[in-house]
Amino acid sequence: MARICVIHGPNLNMLGKREPSVYGAMDYAALNESILARGAQLGHAVSIRQSNHEGELVDIIQGLSGAADIVIINPGAYTHTSVAIRDALLAVGLPVIETHMSNVHKREPFRKKSYISDIAAGVITGFGAQSYLLALEAVAGLGK
Ligand code: DQA
Repeated sequence: MARICVIHGPNLNMLGKREPSVYGAMDYAALNESILARGAQLGHAVSIRQSNHEGELVDIIQGLSGAADIVIINPGAYTHTSVAIRDALLAVGLPVIETHMSNVHKREPFRKKSYISDIAAGVITGFGAQSYLLALEAVAGLGK
C-alpha cells in the first residue's frame, strides 16, 4: 500500500465546463471519484488536493514530507512556467508522476516545455481522465 497524493493545479476544478473538446465532459467531482475508486481497488491510500495558486501548491507539496510516498501531479499551466513547483518537488524528494489529460505535445508549442518532466519518474499525457488512472497503475512499477 502506498500513500499517494494526487495534486491538481489551476483550472482543473473547472473540468466538465472547461474546453470539453480538449479535456472531455467528465466533471471534477466525477474525476476524483474515479481516482479514489481505482486507488482503493489497487489497495492504495489516495488523497486529492487542488489549488489555482502557485504558492499554495508549493505549500501542499512541502506538507507531503513524511505524509506521502508518491506524488501524482497535474500542475496544469504551471507545468510550463513554475520553477517554484519544481523546487518544492525536489525539496520533498518523493517520486513524482507527471500527469496531463491532454497530449501536451499535440498542442501549442509552449506546452511542450515542462519544468517537471526531467525530475519525474515518468509522464502520462493525452488519455483524458484515464491519465490519472494510468498514473495510479504506474505506482506498482515504482516498487511502492
Ligand atoms: C494540462 C495541460 C496544460 O498545458 C494546461 O495548462 C492545463 C491542463 C492537461 O491536463 O492536459 O491546465 O495539464
